[in-house]
Amino acid sequence: MTTTVTAPPAAPLPPPSRRRGRLLAAGLVLLLAAAAAVYWLTRDTDDGAYDPDAPYLDASRPVAERVDDLLGRMTLDEKIGQMTQAERREVTTGDVTTYALGSLLSGGGSVPDDNSPQGWAQMYDGFQTEALATRLRIPMIYGVDAVHGHNNVRGATIFPHNIGLGATRDPQLVRRIGETVAVEVAATGLDWDFAPCLCVARDARWGRTYESFGEDPEIASSMTTIVTGLQGEKLGGPNSVLATAKHYVGDGATLDGKDQGDARIPEEELRKIHLPPFQAAVKAGVGSVMVSFSSFNGEKLHAHRYLVTEVLKEELGFTGFVVSDWNAIDQIDGATGFTPAEVSAAINAGIDMVMVPERWREFITVLRDEVDAGTVPMARIDDANRRILAKKFELGMFEHPMADRSQFDKVGSAAHRELARQAVRQSQVLLKNNGGILPLKPKTGKVFVAGRSADDIGNQSGGWTLTWQGSSGPITEGTTILQGIKEAVEPGGTVTYSADGSGVDRGYDVAIAVVGETPYAEYEGDRPDGVKLDKVDLDTLATLRKAGVPVVVVLVSGRPVDVSAPLPQVQALVAAWLPGTEGAGVADVLFGAYAPTGKLPMSWPATAAQEPVNSGDEKTPLFPYGFGLSY
Ligand code: GLC
Repeated sequence: MTTTVTAPPAAPLPPPSRRRGRLLAAGLVLLLAAAAAVYWLTRDTDDGAYDPDAPYLDASRPVAERVDDLLGRMTLDEKIGQMTQAERREVTTGDVTTYALGSLLSGGGSVPDDNSPQGWAQMYDGFQTEALATRLRIPMIYGVDAVHGHNNVRGATIFPHNIGLGATRDPQLVRRIGETVAVEVAATGLDWDFAPCLCVARDARWGRTYESFGEDPEIASSMTTIVTGLQGEKLGGPNSVLATAKHYVGDGATLDGKDQGDARIPEEELRKIHLPPFQAAVKAGVGSVMVSFSSFNGEKLHAHRYLVTEVLKEELGFTGFVVSDWNAIDQIDGATGFTPAEVSAAINAGIDMVMVPERWREFITVLRDEVDAGTVPMARIDDANRRILAKKFELGMFEHPMADRSQFDKVGSAAHRELARQAVRQSQVLLKNNGGILPLKPKTGKVFVAGRSADDIGNQSGGWTLTWQGSSGPITEGTTILQGIKEAVEPGGTVTYSADGSGVDRGYDVAIAVVGETPYAEYEGDRPDGVKLDKVDLDTLATLRKAGVPVVVVLVSGRPVDVSAPLPQVQALVAAWLPGTEGAGVADVLFGAYAPTGKLPMSWPATAAQEPVNSGDEKTPLFPYGFGLSY
C-alpha cells in the first residue's frame, strides 16, 4: 500500500524581526567559536618545564630544525618578548626574566657606571643571567651603536666616520675596520652592532651626512665589506657580532636634507640610488636591517609593507630580521606615542623586533591584544620569531651566552689605533696646494698652529662619541691633530699653538689652521641654510691672514663646508672629515709621511646655497665628486 506522505505544511515563517534575531544569534555563536579557536591556537602552546635534551639545544642540528622545535615550545607571551627591545636604563632587576625580553640596547651614550670593558661585560652578563632564567632559557641579544669604533666606551679606538672612509675608496681597509670594531665590541660581551649606516647622502645639509659613505651608492655598496668584517665569513666566530644595514631606505634623500623627513623621489630613483647598498648588504649576509624614520613619498617606512616585506624580504631575499628605530613606530600616525593601530601596522609591514626603549611594557600588552583580536596574524609573529631565533642560533648564543672576558686588553690597543691612524691618512683629501706648500718639511721650521679643533679630540671625533651628540674637549684617549703636528716637527722645529691665532707674526714659516664643525648627531646637525664656517673660525683665519703668514687650512667636518670666502687667501686646504682618536694621521699627510690619496665622496658646493649638489646634476660644484690632489 502506498500512501502518499505529504510533508506537513511548512510552519508559517516567523515574522522578519524574529528571523533577523535568530540569524544574529547564530552569527554571534559562530563569531565566538572563531574567537575561541583563535585564542586557543594562539594561547600558550606549551608551558612545559625546561628540557635540557630538547632538540633546540642540540648545536649539531640544523638551525631551521632548532628554530622549529623552540618555536613549538614557546607561548605567545614568550614570542612577543622576543620581538621586544628595551633600553638598558628602562628595565629593573628581574624584568628580562619576567617579560622574557629578547633584546636590550644601549642608546647613544647609555653606558654602565663603570664605563670600561670590564664594566660593560659585567652589565651584559647581568642581563644575560636574567634571560637564561626564563623558562626556555633563550639568550637576549644586546645592541649598540658602534658606528666608528665601540664609540660609547671610554678608551676604545675611534675610527674616522663613514664620510672619511668613503674618501679612502678602500673596501678592504673598511673590512679590517669592521673586524677590529667587532673585536672591541665582543670584548665587552655585546653581540649586535647597529652598523653600518648605508644611507646615500644626497644633500649635505642633512645632519647624518657623516654617517654616509658618500653621494654615490657605488661607494656604500663597495663598503659592505664591513658586514663581513663585523660578522665574519659566517656568524658565530669568536668575534662575530651581528651587523645592521641601516636605515632602510632612502633616509639620505629627504627633501632639503631634513632628518626623518620625506624622500619625494620616484621609485626608479630610490631603486637606482638608495636600494643598491642594501642589496649588497643582503648579499654579504647582513643579519639585521634597521628601518628608517623617514618617509617615502609621504608614507612612513615603518609602516611600508611594500618596501619592507615585498622588496627587502621577498625581492631581495633578506632572511635576517628587521628592527625598528628608536620609538619610530610612534611617528607612523604623526601623533606622539604609539597606538594599537601603529603597532599592528609596523608588525604587519614586516618589522620583526621593535625598539621601544621606554614603553616596552605597554608595547607587549598592545601587541598581545592585537594578536588576540586577529589584527596581527600569528603567522607574522611566528615569522618574526623564526628570523630572530635563527640569528641567535647562528651567533652561537645558546652555546656561549655569557661575555668572553679574555680580550679586555684589545679595546683601544696600539694595533687597533695604528689601523685607525692608517684610515685617517687614507681619508685625507687634498683640495688645494698652491706653490706646493705641502708637504711641510718635518723636524724643521717655526710652525704656528691655530683653530679650535687643533687640540680637541672631541671635535675631531664628532657625534656618536662617548655620548649620542658627542662633545668638544678631552673626552677620551687618543692623539689630537696638534699632538700629531708636534710629533712631526719637534725636535728640530718648533710648534706654537694659539686657538684663536693671537700671537702669530711674520716670523713663522707657516700657520696651520684646524677649523670646522663641532660635534652633533642626527637632526641636531641639520643645517637647512647650508653648512658654513662660523664666526669663530672665520675670525681665526682673518687673524692669520693679517700676519701675512702662509696658511694651511685643515677642515674637521662631517661634510663639505662652504669655504668660498677664505679659500682665495689660503695656500692649502685639506678635508680631514671626522678622523676620530688618531689625529696624528692628519699630520702624517701634512708632513709627507703619507702622500694624500683621498678622493671626495661628496660634491663640494661652491656656496652653502648650492646644496644639494651631486655628480651628474646641472650644477657646478667648487670641487667635483672624486676630486683629490696628491704630492
Ligand atoms: C637612533 C638612530 C639609529 C640608532 C638608534 C639606537 O635614533 O636613528 O641610527 O641605531 O637610534 O641608538
